Amino acid sequence: MTEPTTVDTGTGYGRKKPSYDARLTEVGPGTPMGEAMRRYWHPIATSATLTNDVPHRTRVLGEDLIVFRDGQGRPGVVFERCAHRGSSLFYGRVEEDGLRCCYHGWKFDVQGHCLDQAVEPGGGKRRNLARQPWYPVEERYGLVFVYMGPPDRKPALPRYDFMEPTEDGDQYQAGWPVPGSTVTGLLQDFNWLQIYENGIDPLHVNWLHSNHSGQQFINVGNPTGLPEDFFTPYPPEGTVTYERMEFGARYKLRFLGHEKDGVRPEQVWVGELHLPNAWIFPDFSLPTADQQTDMVLWATPTDDTHHRLWFSIRSNDPERMYRFAAGVKQNGKDPWELTEDERQRFPGDGEAQQSQGPITLHSEETLAPSDRGVVMLRRMLRTIVDDVEAGRDPQGVSLDEVPPRPVQSGVWSAATVDKTPEAVPAAGA
Ligand code: FES
Ligand SMILES: [Fe+2]
Repeated sequence: MTEPTTVDTGTGYGRKKPSYDARLTEVGPGTPMGEAMRRYWHPIATSATLTNDVPHRTRVLGEDLIVFRDGQGRPGVVFERCAHRGSSLFYGRVEEDGLRCCYHGWKFDVQGHCLDQAVEPGGGKRRNLARQPWYPVEERYGLVFVYMGPPDRKPALPRYDFMEPTEDGDQYQAGWPVPGSTVTGLLQDFNWLQIYENGIDPLHVNWLHSNHSGQQFINVGNPTGLPEDFFTPYPPEGTVTYERMEFGARYKLRFLGHEKDGVRPEQVWVGELHLPNAWIFPDFSLPTADQQTDMVLWATPTDDTHHRLWFSIRSNDPERMYRFAAGVKQNGKDPWELTEDERQRFPGDGEAQQSQGPITLHSEETLAPSDRGVVMLRRMLRTIVDDVEAGRDPQGVSLDEVPPRPVQSGVWSAATVDKTPEAVPAAGA
């Protein structure tokens, strides 16, 4: 007789086909999240680099678009395919009052009105019947934003208290100044939600950016940077708390600041996510206590498997933007300088998030307590999708102009942050 053997069935054999949550991730027209996303404004170009030289080709929420600035300085966003017979307006010519197609010379203004139909007698007697599909745009904080949703549900473009008004010398530093970035942003080849979830996953810093790959944030350990033990690999229970707020989600991470007068003061790092795809966190290179942040980041979905990155920083420090954009080093280098071998040995955010796949496979995940923020964010995103499907305006949307949003992101002494749970005014305000 053979003895019964215990079979370990936890092998890879016979698993169900993996899948992702399309309701959370897919953004094309008519998809649940695509329709929710279309109820908000999205960055599409950097104001300073959008000149009236040539039109720029981009894709947002799965739609092929052209963004340009006409000779009068007005930004415009239109479909890439010409309404006449479909040539790309990427090959068009920017003129004083619009963009003219290369093929037969039809000219459209920033709202798609056809101003002229060259090669038609009299410039096209019926040109008023032609309309190039277009979307509304607004410029703010150094960026051009586009609204691609139902015209009668167009919300006010959000404002943030710390981003305005600008003081003497303050400027908006916007874009993403690294190699590969263009007027239409820094393109990355994986789903937008993967990087957005990173914004409410502060504990990855305690592994990826420090204990795994060596210290990656600049200035760590210096009096001006984060203390080294900010990056402890096994942070105690309660280090991070997550909460819902009016515009999205917020987390608070408690740590001990640098020693002063024999004491290490308890400090709180506060980050916020503003639905559906903006996030705000402190300056990690110079994290001064009791200082509100100075920057907003966005991940604009390009299509289901790509997104574009943006930030705007309000600062009077000309180096601020570069300190942020190049503030995470891998093996002491900028991410775009790495060999494949260095990427493997010293991975950073790019390696971690891109390797989750073009769209991560949610069916294969094993969530843990440190993912509480991610779970909360997904619930909130599901709610905005449900709301839009049910005919309601989603969270954070206001059709009327509203005052700038109070933002708590920053580094605060524990006493300060606890006294003012909703918002802390900027230092000196
Ligand atoms: S295809 Fe654009 S003008 Fe004819
Ligand atoms: Fe990171």
